[in-house]
Amino acid sequence: MTQSVTVLGLGSMGSALAGALLDRGHAVTVWNRTAEKAAPLVERGARLAATPAEAIAASPLVVACVLDYAVLRAVTGSDPLSGKDFVNLTSGSPEQAEEAAGWFGARGAGYLDGAIMTTPEGVGSAEVMVLYSGPRPVFDAHEPVLAALGDPVYLGADPGRASLYDAALLGLMWSAMAGWLHGTALVGAEKTTAAEFTPVAIRWLGTVNRFLTRYASQVDEGRYPGDDATVDVQVAAIGHLIHAAGARGVDNALPELLKSMMERASEAGHGADSFASLVELFAGRVAAR
Ligand SMILES: NC(=O)c1ccc[n+]([C@@H]2O[C@H](COP(=O)([O-])OP(=O)(O)OC[C@H]3O[C@@H](n4cnc5c(N)ncnc54)[C@H](OP(=O)(O)O)[C@@H]3O)[C@@H](O)[C@H]2O)c1
Repeated sequence: MTQSVTVLGLGSMGSALAGALLDRGHAVTVWNRTAEKAAPLVERGARLAATPAEAIAASPLVVACVLDYAVLRAVTGSDPLSGKDFVNLTSGSPEQAEEAAGWFGARGAGYLDGAIMTTPEGVGSAEVMVLYSGPRPVFDAHEPVLAALGDPVYLGADPGRASLYDAALLGLMWSAMAGWLHGTALVGAEKTTAAEFTPVAIRWLGTVNRFLTRYASQVDEGRYPGDDATVDVQVAAIGHLIHAAGARGVDNALPELLKSMMERASEAGHGADSFASLVELFAGRVAAR
């Protein structure tokens, strides 16, 4: 089933979104402040609207992806939007998502907030998650069209939920990539290339995935049996990493931070518990030193 869809914002991400919708045969109307950026999409069959209002009028579903929420608000104006559904894929905070849900709702529009868990080249792949939150009926009505952008993952009615997950997942990404880069610098000091190290690192992440699955229930239950590897054992192990890296001139700020957190957990009584007990620190239930 193809449908009319409007895309507001044709930066790197908005252009990829509009392109993915065209790929699936949808009738796409686009608007961008800098109209020239629409040219490649118009060549592929998109219709360029002269104003945001004209673009919004063209379709029941409007996908927006602009710089930030202030731009979104300015672009969508203050006219009534009865009968329109907005899917906002602009990045922001949960609070901004809730506020946006309020002002779109007050203008008679349906509103979903979303987060695209990829860079533009991944848009359209079924491997890639696009997170959504807001009223279930709005999501259900547009899920088939939204599937053109990536696998649609619905997180619930709270409009801030997609942004909340987005922030949490970016934190996970930065930690994982930083750990990989630190390790790459360490093995690189012994003339191992990143290309040699990375397949081994990726295989290791598969094992780490299993740790997360096991620790999730420990976190939810607030009990951290240290029957695999205790915090105290890992304090000693991270000492080896810090020694090996320091001896090779590798910056140790990252593992030093992790070691200090493990030591705080140990001092708070979690030395014989699993690594999952560090959630007590992250959740603010263990006082800072
Ligand atoms: N790129 C990514 O990998 C990625 C991944 C996930 C989420 N996102 C999010 O997607 C959103 C867009 O990112 P992007 O990478 O596409 O950025 P971008 O290439 O810089 O595009 C920004 C868009 O916002 C528009 N814009 C900026 N200021 C404006 C204003 N005052 N009035 C009207 N339009 C304005 C730009 O219009 P002009 O073309 O006229 O400048 C353009 O369409 C951001 O919230 C970003 O965090 C991006």
